[in-house]
Amino acid sequence: MNVSAEDLIRKLWETRSLSEEEFTRLIRERTPDSARRLQELAVAERKRIYGSDVYIRGLIEFTNVCRNDCLYCGLRRSNAALARYRLSREEILSCAEEGYRLGFRTFVLQGGEDGFFTDGVLVPIIREIKTRFPDCAVTLSLGERSRDSYRALFEAGADRYLLRHETADRAHYAQLHPPEMSFDRRMRCLAELKEIGYQVGCGFMVGSPGQTERELAKDLRFIGAFRPDMCGIGPFIPHRETPFRAVPAGSAELTCFLLSVIRVMLPAVLLPATTALGTVHPRGREMGILSGANVVMPNLSPGRVRKQYELYDNKICTGEESAQCRGCLDMRMESIGYRTVTARGDAVREE
Ligand code: SAM
Ligand code: SF4
Ligand code: FES
Repeated sequence: MNVSAEDLIRKLWETRSLSEEEFTRLIRERTPDSARRLQELAVAERKRIYGSDVYIRGLIEFTNVCRNDCLYCGLRRSNAALARYRLSREEILSCAEEGYRLGFRTFVLQGGEDGFFTDGVLVPIIREIKTRFPDCAVTLSLGERSRDSYRALFEAGADRYLLRHETADRAHYAQLHPPEMSFDRRMRCLAELKEIGYQVGCGFMVGSPGQTERELAKDLRFIGAFRPDMCGIGPFIPHRETPFRAVPAGSAELTCFLLSVIRVMLPAVLLPATTALGTVHPRGREMGILSGANVVMPNLSPGRVRKQYELYDNKICTGEESAQCRGCLDMRMESIGYRTVTARGDAVREE
């Protein structure tokens, strides 16, 4: 490792931050040595706070209908080749039942921005999950909604909200989204979620079209300033029915490097080893955990709809059932000396 990389890593470790220029260099000039050093620091921090526990979140992909047209996503409204579905209230509740039986204590309700799921529809579903499973957390990942809606869902019992910022660079945001989508609105939503009292997750794709080390440095600066409770990062993977079909996927290597950087910056952050990471590399999720991640989010959606929630090509776990994914992840975590735990796994807020 060259002297400057060593200095940068020391500074990151001591101050939990770097300038945009420094982050850019750290990423651009990374080597297997600097990656290894960061990984050691990240794992030490994660062990200090979370030991060898890996939290599991049961993902319920309850609608693939979306009004938006994000250029990277297979669910975008322009994808006419996709058969759309919505789970009924009963189906959502039975996914949660099954998840509870399998030891999940967090349910993540994720979907496209589907106008059918108004507050009037969602509030009773969230209430019912919280009534039946009072020891569980509910995480929402439903995209942009009004402040009043975020508040209504929070008051119904939702605990956490995942809304990736996607990129902290305005011009880059415009490359990834159609003109009617707004960088400022995305940022405002994140601020509102925090004000309301949710545990909030932001995040971005690694290797998204047009992304350079400079944009990644801005993402890291944003994360340092926003101080999310959770941070979802995974490689971009092309989908054949989108304008980015020919763009190569992001790498597991860079994703793992960034997971380590984020863990060193925010030692207590809840950091998933994502399904996308498991898609670009057969041991991607294990590599993610070994780089500082501490959460995995297996799928609880009914088998019959899994293939239709295809954000990107070749998504893993679309032919499996919930119990199989649960067992598979247990084995994978054990194989690297970690263990999945049945716990809500709330964010620890360190100062
Ligand atoms: N509609 C909600 C939203 O956008 O926040 C929740 C569901 S959306 C599918 C969840 C995340 O999937 C997005 O934030 C995006 O980062 C990720 N995603 C979408 N398309 C992807 C792709 N082609 N490769 C990797 N991740 C992708
Ligand atoms: Fe819709 Fe989310 Fe996909 Fe964008 S990323 S098209 S909002 S599902
Ligand atoms: Fe779904 Fe391995 S986690 S099959």
